[in-house]
Order: sequence, then structure tokens, then C-alpha cells
Amino acid sequence: MEIVPTGAALGADVWNVDLADLTDTAFAEIHQTWLDNNGVLRFPCQRLDDNGFLGFAERFGELDMAPINANGHYWKPEYPQLAVISNVVSDGKPVGSLGSYESKWHTDMSYNELPPKASILYAIELPREGGDTGFASTAAAYDALPEDMKKRLAGLTCKHDSSHNSVGQVRRGFAEAYDQREDIPGAVHPLVATHPETGRKVIYLGRRARAYIRELPPAESDTLLDELYAHVSKPEFTWTQKWRHGDVVLWDNRCTLHRRDALDPNERRLLHRAQIKDVAPMSAAA
Ligand code: SIN
Repeated sequence: MEIVPTGAALGADVWNVDLADLTDTAFAEIHQTWLDNNGVLRFPCQRLDDNGFLGFAERFGELDMAPINANGHYWKPEYPQLAVISNVVSDGKPVGSLGSYESKWHTDMSYNELPPKASILYAIELPREGGDTGFASTAAAYDALPEDMKKRLAGLTCKHDSSHNSVGQVRRGFAEAYDQREDIPGAVHPLVATHPETGRKVIYLGRRARAYIRELPPAESDTLLDELYAHVSKPEFTWTQKWRHGDVVLWDNRCTLHRRDALDPNERRLLHRAQIKDVAPMSAAA
């Protein structure tokens, strides 16, 4: 196995490894490399069937069920833990979620009390351009904050919005808008949390739209959240994945944000995704 860090604030390539055939020693090295590189690893040139992909994901912990689609079904009923992320439409029906849209910076499912600790994508079909996925290190971004901002954030909590998905679509069963910000459905998490495995402090953001800081009046909350998203997404804290066939990318939802570029709807993009359950919500940093 050869590890090549990206040179950015996060991420490393792991070469010469078959994710479908890993020894426990190789997995332990991958796990430590993941923690040491701020939570993003890319494994190029993989050839995985669904069992191989889910088997690798499962090494990190119990898998979450994939979100159900607009028709109330799993994308792949025979593999309910496998989500299909795609813009492909077959017989008039989408074969996966998120379409061709841009998605803004977000953490997966932080609107839940217990969001997944990690997500993994496997590239199967790719457009000639577009659909790149950006990652940001919320640990490096926290470390770089001025001391007075760190003090200001201590003890604050954020309400995360569950009514919209990462490309801004209203989820099944939710309203487009709510009269009072307190009515917005979603979980509350500390704004500065401690990563349970690295011990590092992170700015724990979910997705910007409709989120708010409960201890601040609306205008102040909006200004502070805008400032934090602008800070975390600075080039010095980010790295962009330009997909190649066979790439597997693993990210840690506890210490990263990610986003995706839009793509030409006439081009095909299809990836498989698995998510790993966490065992406890993020705890407020001391
Ligand atoms: C995701 O946000 O889970 C999908 C990202 C992507 O399509 O690159």
C-alpha cells in the first residue's frame, strides 16, 4: 500500500490496494491514515461489485439504510444500504438521487440526532466534465480561527434543517417554508464539537440554508453562519476530487463539509454511496 497525501488541508490517495480483499492489518493502516489526513481518502483504480463495496464500507461500522426515493422505495431494493447518486433517467424515471444540480457545502444528514459518521462514494459512470466534489476540513478551519472567535463560538448550538436535501429540494412530507424558525424540523448540535477519535475541535456545520444558531437573534445568527461557511470554504482548507472511473472516496462527516459542482444533464454520472452509522452524536467541545 502506498499513501500519497494530496498536499492540501485534507485528503490522501491510497494506491496498490484491493478494497474487496483487505487484511485486518491493511484495514487498520487505512483507518489510521484516514484519521491522520483530516478525514478524506481516495482509493484509485478499484473494481468492486456491490458486495465488495458494501463489505469495505462495513469495516468502519454498521451501515445506515439508504434514503428512500420519491416512490417510497430503496434505489436498489436487493441492497437497501446502497444509495445511487445519479442524473441518469431510464424509462422516464431517475435511477438515483441529486440529479445534475450543484450541491452547496454540507455535512451528510446532520439534521438527524445521530448523523452517519462517514460516507463512501464509488464512481461507476462519469461525465466528461462537471460533477467534481469539493471537501473542506472543519478541524483545520477551527484551528485557524482567531482566539476571540473561538471564545465567541464556545457553547453555541445550531439547529440543522431536515426539510431540504443538499441540492435544495424539499424532502417528501416537509413544507417549503416555516413561519417561525423554531418550527424548522431538524436536530440540534453543538457549533464547536470534539471529534471522538482524533480529539480535535471542529466547526460542526450542516447546510447553510435555514440553519440557525439558537442562542442568537436571527440577523446575528445569519451573519455569523455566513462568516463561518465563508471561512471553512477558503482554498487553504479545501481539496477538490476530480473523479476518475474506479475511484472510491471515503469521507468523515464529523470533520468535513463537502459540495458538488453541477453537470451537463445530457452527460451520464452514476456513483454508489454507502454511509456508516455513528455510535453517539457529536459532543460539545470543552
Ligand atoms: C453526496 O453529497 O453525497 C454526493 C456528492 C457527489 O455527488 O459527488
